[in-house]
Amino acid sequence: MTDIEQHLNSLEDRGLYRRMRLISGPQGARVLLDGKPVLVMCSNNYLGLADHPRVREAAADAARRWGVGSSGSRLISGNMTVHRRLEARLAEFKGTEAALLFGSGYMANTGIIPALSQEGEVIFSDSLNHASIVDGCRLSRAETFVYDHGDLEHLAWGLRKASGRASLIVTDSVFSMDGDTAPLEGIVQLAKDNDVRVMVDEAHATGTTGPDGRGAVAAAELTNDVDLIVGTLGKALGAYGAYAACDTQMARYLVNTSRAFIFSTAPAPPVVAAAAEALEILIEQPRRVLRLQQNSELFRRELARRGFDVAASGSHIVPLVTGDAAAAMKMTEKALERGVFVQAIRPPTVPEGMCRLRAAVMASHKPDELRAAANVLAKAAAAAGFEAGRRMPGEFGPPISIEAANAEPSIYDEDSDQLASVA
Ligand SMILES: Cc1ncc(COP(=O)(O)O)c(C=O)c1O
Repeated sequence: MTDIEQHLNSLEDRGLYRRMRLISGPQGARVLLDGKPVLVMCSNNYLGLADHPRVREAAADAARRWGVGSSGSRLISGNMTVHRRLEARLAEFKGTEAALLFGSGYMANTGIIPALSQEGEVIFSDSLNHASIVDGCRLSRAETFVYDHGDLEHLAWGLRKASGRASLIVTDSVFSMDGDTAPLEGIVQLAKDNDVRVMVDEAHATGTTGPDGRGAVAAAELTNDVDLIVGTLGKALGAYGAYAACDTQMARYLVNTSRAFIFSTAPAPPVVAAAAEALEILIEQPRRVLRLQQNSELFRRELARRGFDVAASGSHIVPLVTGDAAAAMKMTEKALERGVFVQAIRPPTVPEGMCRLRAAVMASHKPDELRAAANVLAKAAAAAGFEAGRRMPGEFGPPISIEAANAEPSIYDEDSDQLASVA
């Protein structure tokens, strides 16, 4: 047996083996998953823009006008008008002097963090930051102090210990697997007190949170106090890629020092144009953000009525913690049998013992679909062995009650084994 085979077997034995499910057709609130129609409750396409007709057309038009490839790094031969235009609009949207495009959020984080921290310095990173931030810290030659999730006292203690070597505090704003928001005011204050830069990853806050979707930093009125905001184009904006919003000097610095920017082909014109069109739609139609926020509230309320503890999330990302991997997988399968797709999330995406279903709401969900999904999830939890009133294992484990789920009149069609049409 090869070492690779052994590793794969070990992943299977521990319930950590991953396989990809196939979606036919475009992304949307409903898709064909492995050939079966399902309601999608685990997509980052939060505003339903990934298949918006204007966004599709912008991509097609860009391919006709500018071709499909950018042909090189921006610094060699790939800097095109589409890039400059989107950067200008993003900077305007975020209220910063400049914006700089990156190939993806993963590339932005792994490209920016090492550029902002040198050997001998210390980076401060929230314990629940996204893997791309973790990898950015690893790639830098600085030490990383991982402070307890959202714990300002722990962060302050670490800053004191670093005694002058602190270079950067980095945090998600809306956390990708928990849906809660970082204590941004406190972080910014500590950064000021200790003369440290702050970088905030708004991957899940852009287009979803704050004034007209401008993010959690804008909501806290901290845009001028944060050194750098990272946002992605592949989630609420429905395309692919990422950006750093910052001042002009920082943008010039990254152009000259960020290896992910310097040594990688510039984003492809159709994708850049698609993101630009999605941004225009977001600016023109702030009601989409409002709809997402209303849908999120409704979904959390519906889950809470069925006994789920969703108090920790204040956003469109709603974790249902099962603790162990087998329970999460079982709950996903049971929900799928009833036509609702919520992917199980296991280590290393979340810490050991904190497996969960990460439910994500979209603006394009209909209220009846969200009620039905909450019902299906309560039934799936019961089928996965969570009994009425029993607390799910794990620090944030929600208590699951199945009586409420059974009492609730449902639009779920038991006979057809699929969600009834709620159009
Ligand atoms: C907080 C956060 N940052 C960065 C990324 C990576 O972004 P991308 O998918 O564009 O690489 C993600 C992806 O899920 C994320 O959740």
